[in-house]
Amino acid sequence: MIVSLGCDHAGVDLRASLRDQLMARGYRVISHGPEDETSVDYPDVAIVVCRQVLDGEADLGILVCGTGLGMSIAANKVPGIRAALLSDCYSAVKARTHNDANVITLGGRTLGPELAWQIVTSFLDNEFTGGRHQVRIDKLSAIESHYMNPGAAEVSTDC
Ligand code: RB5
Repeated sequence: MIVSLGCDHAGVDLRASLRDQLMARGYRVISHGPEDETSVDYPDVAIVVCRQVLDGEADLGILVCGTGLGMSIAANKVPGIRAALLSDCYSAVKARTHNDANVITLGGRTLGPELAWQIVTSFLDNEFTGGRHQVRIDKLSAIESHYMNPGAAEVSTDC
């Protein structure tokens, strides 16, 4: 499995910790963003990681900024990306099994390295369950298509 792992200046330490642990588990890691605390803009890193996921160069994207918020907002602007901002292990399991997230985002200033690693392994050690959840993922794709090309695809408002 290949992980594209990016951070801004607020995520450098957590990225280093995750990189070491992912590599120790046998994952190939492609790292993006600064190696020191030189200030960078999180959308610039998010787009590089998202492109690698969409192009099939990585199986999963992990993005770290101060809170994980900016990275999640940026990543979710990219059609085809389902980015989950995670701060607990229960949500990490659901992000994989229900939401089929292809990017996860974490806060380097809000999570300690141990909890962050437990969150990452909770995600990695599960699989998407499909079924009714695939129906919902398809509806997310329909919303994307609708707003990218209004008129081409209608969205379900059946609630
Ligand atoms: C950078 O100071 C900070 O705003 C950024 O890392 C992130 O937390 C934004 O959501």
